[in-house]
Amino acid sequence: MKEDLYKKAIAVLDANFQDGGFTIPSAGLYPFQWKWDSGFIAIGFAHYDVEKAKTEMRTLLDAQWKNGFIPHIVFHTENDSYFPGADFHQSELHPLSSKKYRSTGMTQPPVTGFVLQEMHRIADDKKDMLNFIKEEIDKVYANHEYFYKNRDPQDEGLVYIYHNWESGTDNSPVWDDIWKTMNPPEYDFVRKDTTHVDASQRPSKREYDHYLHIIDIAKQNNYNDAKIAELSPFLVQDPLFNAMLIKSNQALIDLYIQIGGNEERIKNIIKWQSKSIKSFNDKLFDADLGAYVHYDLRNEKPIRHITSSSFSPLFANIPSPERADVLVNTMMDKFGGEDKYLCASFDPTNDRFNPRKYWRGPVWINMNWMLFLGLKNYGFTDVAARMKQDSIELIEKYGFYEYFDCRKDTGDENPTGYGGNNFSWSAALFIDMVNTD
Ligand code: GLC
Repeated sequence: MKEDLYKKAIAVLDANFQDGGFTIPSAGLYPFQWKWDSGFIAIGFAHYDVEKAKTEMRTLLDAQWKNGFIPHIVFHTENDSYFPGADFHQSELHPLSSKKYRSTGMTQPPVTGFVLQEMHRIADDKKDMLNFIKEEIDKVYANHEYFYKNRDPQDEGLVYIYHNWESGTDNSPVWDDIWKTMNPPEYDFVRKDTTHVDASQRPSKREYDHYLHIIDIAKQNNYNDAKIAELSPFLVQDPLFNAMLIKSNQALIDLYIQIGGNEERIKNIIKWQSKSIKSFNDKLFDADLGAYVHYDLRNEKPIRHITSSSFSPLFANIPSPERADVLVNTMMDKFGGEDKYLCASFDPTNDRFNPRKYWRGPVWINMNWMLFLGLKNYGFTDVAARMKQDSIELIEKYGFYEYFDCRKDTGDENPTGYGGNNFSWSAALFIDMVNTD
């Protein structure tokens, strides 16, 4: 059974790999290259087709802008089955955007650093992989430099996101707090996502008005970072995004040391890193909740909800061992009941929890993968084993879906996975988890 599933995972990835040298997240729903998806996908490929893994990363990094920015979607093809597409985003408004690829003018979590390190860990031929990394690593460094220069207006070592789509956790109930501070115009547009997936599993029309309005403000300012920092109604320090940056910083340090030379760069990253970790712990930890939370930088207040992102600092070695204990207790207490699969994306005890809707409750395999590695890091062997086991069981039961109900008993006659099927990162990270004890 497991062997069949492994073959199926490979088949999903191979089928989603495109001629242009990139992999779509899922046919129909997501027809382009997404930044953090690409990183997770490369980790999957690295286990059985190193060249594809390299191609995936090369293509993504090739879409980098001259200021170091890496966009969240690269529109490799004309495809009108997705909204909002290239014509809406108009990345060409930014003077330093890529001339080769059209893209969005927003980014996604900074996975590329730790992905290169994972590829190196997985590769049989380390020398060959290190040569590949030598070729690409300065682009990742430039990307981090972009973040620290442009996304940290108070010089805290914590970078902001200016759109919920930058977070990767697009429809989290955390953003409801921001929507309450806004009143965008009603947009006239045709959704495409709900032609592929049941509307009950996707965001509402009114939520989309907010999403489009923030992009409009950025476009009116030609995606200028300083203007966005000044004007965007959405400006948030996200624990998941910053944890990934910190994890990737560490990967860059380790890889540069292996490569040799690069003292200046290493020194800079170490400086960013120590400031980031300190501010992260000082500012984003909520002792009453026993978890890390988001911070609303526009309105200068924490957003006090527990999400699966709240535990992601484990992945980047951010909490002290004592604080890691607190985190895992919170997780097991609220998310870890025997009637549930780990790990819901949003606090199951909160009124805003919805087990079927996108990031408002369902389990996501990329989050589970990160938490699995984080728990292992800190020696929570049993919880880590359960995280892995639950992930595998969900995939065995339902297939390689985009997200899953965390309840073991959904009350449905024919329970199913949700969102896109044959979803690339679910397949890729299944491959990696099966190969990791
Ligand atoms: C959804 C997810 C986002 C992901 C994208 C492509 O929008 O919220 O995190 O990158 O799909 O899979």
